[in-house]
Amino acid sequence: MKQEVVALGEITSFQSRTEEFGPYEWYKRMLESEPAVYDEGSRTWNVFRYEEVKRVLSDYEHFSSERSRTTINVGVDTKEGSLGDSKINIINSDPPEHRKRRSLLSAAFTPRSLKQWEPRIQQVVDELIQNMRGSTEIDIVAQYATPLPVIIMSDLLGVPSHDRHLFKRWVDILFLPFQKENAEEVNRLKEQAAKEYFNYLYPFVIQKRTQLAEDIISDLIRVEVDGERFTDDEIVRATMFLLGAGIETTSNLLANTFYAFLYDNPEVYSELRADLSLVPHMVEEVLRYRFNVTKLDRTVKKDNDLLGAPLSKGEMVIVWMSAANMDKRVFEDPFTFKLRRDNGSKHLTFGNGPHFCLGAPLARLEANIAIRTFAETFRRIEPVPGFQLEANLQTSAVGQSLSRLPMRVEL
Ligand code: HEM
Repeated sequence: MKQEVVALGEITSFQSRTEEFGPYEWYKRMLESEPAVYDEGSRTWNVFRYEEVKRVLSDYEHFSSERSRTTINVGVDTKEGSLGDSKINIINSDPPEHRKRRSLLSAAFTPRSLKQWEPRIQQVVDELIQNMRGSTEIDIVAQYATPLPVIIMSDLLGVPSHDRHLFKRWVDILFLPFQKENAEEVNRLKEQAAKEYFNYLYPFVIQKRTQLAEDIISDLIRVEVDGERFTDDEIVRATMFLLGAGIETTSNLLANTFYAFLYDNPEVYSELRADLSLVPHMVEEVLRYRFNVTKLDRTVKKDNDLLGAPLSKGEMVIVWMSAANMDKRVFEDPFTFKLRRDNGSKHLTFGNGPHFCLGAPLARLEANIAIRTFAETFRRIEPVPGFQLEANLQTSAVGQSLSRLPMRVEL
């Protein structure tokens, strides 16, 4: 089903990329407002406070993931590029159907596979660090944050490593934002990328059916729930969805971690180096404080006034997790980036309820290994003078992300 895409600009009126990258003043104002704020222009309800955001995300009886309008549109509405109504479409379905679909896709993320992947992730991290060792100035986005998740995901899927650059290009295109002015052109590019991806991966799936291995494609071939299995076509499209869900998000987590080291709280890096057991806290605080999957959306399933306003069936509700992560009712001194927080991991960046991010353990594992190994290697990091944030941000389907982050490093 073709979904209408609601652009962020219609709701927020940010004046610059920089403001969108750190919309703290706006969050502050919105957290003081009503629990549900109606925006006439986009015909959406907007929810900012922690408890209400959590409620909408978990209460699927009233707030459905089946929708005709959305704020995030990643794929493209063709046979190859969309999830359609098939059993791989977990993101747009509600329980009980969602439960079965999620059990099938979970085959790709068992704790056992996570344990097996750890040394593979460490190896990729070590190689990238090795390439940076000889330099005194690096671009952490190009040399670490961007390649790491692409290499890891293509490796875990089980495709040849020399084709990684193809994956990166397809993901970049499938994640391009739709804007009114360029919708047709972007759609054409996405259709093409989806087709190329499909034609590339399909033969791998066929081949792996005869020779199963320890990778995600093989896991998706093996899995069976209530007598149901994935078809070849569904496996290809499931992997495209996983790439879309897992690459840019994890790259942003890494890039934003370094931005936080350099600009949000420059004391944190040496504090972390002095006690590496704080690495998981660092990762959670970046997820809480600085993340670009800022919002999700749901459709009102039944008329209700659970948010203190009369919500009617069919209306769209946007929940701003990044604002909820700044709610002082839950987080003390929320607008300060702090390494030591007791409840930092209570952030809602991975969602909440039945759709809670399936890849969260993988994203956390990658980020922990990447940050720890970097901190073990480099004694000091410093910003490069004259860095202009505005000129180094890019718009993606979910928000603003760093396109470049130069920094000085010392072994
Ligand atoms: C920092 C990194 C990541 C963030 C912030 C993130 C965020 C999210 C969020 C907010 C949702 C909930 C969507 C909703 O409620 O509608 C979600 C769902 C999902 N994510 Fe992630 N994600 C990340 C990494 C990953 C990775 C690495 C993968 C896999 C490779 C992944 C796979 C998924 C899947 C399959 C779902 C759908 C779950 C469902 O609908 O039941 N994510 N993610």
